[in-house]
Amino acid sequence: MNRLMLSILLACLIMTPTAAAAAEGGPQKVLVVYYSNSGNTKAVAEKLQAKTGADVYRLETVRTYPAEHKALTDEAKRELEENDLPALKGALPDMSSYDLILVGGPVWWYTVATPVMQFLDQADFAGKKTAAFCTHAGGVGMYFPHFKEQAKNAVVLEGLSLLGNTADEASTDKAIDAWLAKLH
Ligand SMILES: Cc1cc2nc3c(=O)[nH]c(=O)nc-3n(C[C@H](O)[C@H](O)[C@H](O)COP(=O)(O)O)c2cc1C
Repeated sequence: MNRLMLSILLACLIMTPTAAAAAEGGPQKVLVVYYSNSGNTKAVAEKLQAKTGADVYRLETVRTYPAEHKALTDEAKRELEENDLPALKGALPDMSSYDLILVGGPVWWYTVATPVMQFLDQADFAGKKTAAFCTHAGGVGMYFPHFKEQAKNAVVLEGLSLLGNTADEASTDKAIDAWLAKLH
């Protein structure tokens, strides 16, 4: 047996079954991590779970945001301007056993919502693939470039943006299916 064959054999032996399956183009183990303030991103996360069998982790903030829209947008603006990212409840999800992490959130002020920024600030994606999905009201702005900058050590795949409250529409299903098919 030459050295190349030996290295391949050893690599196969030490790879976990999931990693080996993913490397062969088999099913990937997927984790969906998301934040949702008013439910739109949550609905998409639930669709992703149903379609992929992914595990799902919902990010929640320690502080409660104002319910009133203007007060919420003012608070989000302040957090961004002061880089005062909100603390998250509980421990971060353990990402070690996943191949692909789908990270979702709303667009806030044309960028990544601050609770998702907080998650990205704490997470290390070394050895992982990730892709962002977001919901918005028409202006995605810098969401995806900022996500890419903030997802440390990740292989960042193409993202998906969906208009607000459209999770139940047939076109959304199609867009999600087409997106998932590309995530390898
Ligand atoms: C603080 C705040 C800022 C927002 N900024 C934007 C924005 O810049 N562009 C946009 O298209 N929608 C913006 N929106 C609308 C949300 O992105 C949209 O309603 C989203 O679907 C909410 O997701 P959620 O229900 O999961 O919280 C903003 C909403 C809030 C509360």
